[in-house]
Amino acid sequence: APEPRVEINANEAALTVANCIIDLVRQKPDAVLGLATGGTMEPVYAHLVATYRRGEVSFAKVTSFNLDEYVGLPPSHPGSYRSTMNRLFFDHVDIDPSRTHLPDGMAGDPESAATAYEADLARLGPVDLQLLGIGRNGHIGFNEPGSALDSRTRQVELHASTLEANRSFFECGTVPHHAITMGIASILDARRIIVLATGEAKAEAVSTALSGTVSEACPASALFLHDQVEWVLDKAAAAGL
Ligand code: GLP
Repeated sequence: APEPRVEINANEAALTVANCIIDLVRQKPDAVLGLATGGTMEPVYAHLVATYRRGEVSFAKVTSFNLDEYVGLPPSHPGSYRSTMNRLFFDHVDIDPSRTHLPDGMAGDPESAATAYEADLARLGPVDLQLLGIGRNGHIGFNEPGSALDSRTRQVELHASTLEANRSFFECGTVPHHAITMGIASILDARRIIVLATGEAKAEAVSTALSGTVSEACPASALFLHDQVEWVLDKAAAAGL
């Protein structure tokens, strides 16, 4: 496995990742970005927005694909990943909203929505740079342990531990139990992948993923199969290495 880059704290790690994205977009203004949600990514988007506001980068020609979306939440629901992305990033930069893609969590038939998303990825991709977080149980996107390494975009049921971890993002009511997620194989189609993991709660998942044993028990271990993966950690997430 590649040597991870270890930064002093979560903000420095996020800055490193944001700078990789900015460098790519400066070199290739029409880059296709693979984007991720989760608390870990919030400082990454804050750095991207700040850099845009300083006039140092433009996202006007960028296309984006998010990893996943909850099933059954309207885009206007504050817990949906569409509304999260709008609030953290899209609303504050010059990206063309029609070029920002998330799976359609409100589709009558989630499986057809998943197939349509995979077709959009094939038509507009490949993703130049995929931003990736990791769940405490090693999930990537919403590919929970047990997901097939050759999985594609599909509807999935979330594990109890994931519902618990994401509960804080929902003010009231219950966390949705289903999502549409890019599959492990869809994620591995990206030209380049950057994984960002911060905080001690991720230390165990990070060490398992980087052990070099590829196993469905730890979806992030599949990243070993890709030769352009960079890991950016803070000291707490690197504690088990
Ligand atoms: C969520 C998302 C993942 C994210 C992970 C970690 O469930 N679907 O894309 O990487 O869990 O989230 P956080 O950064 O909040 O720990």
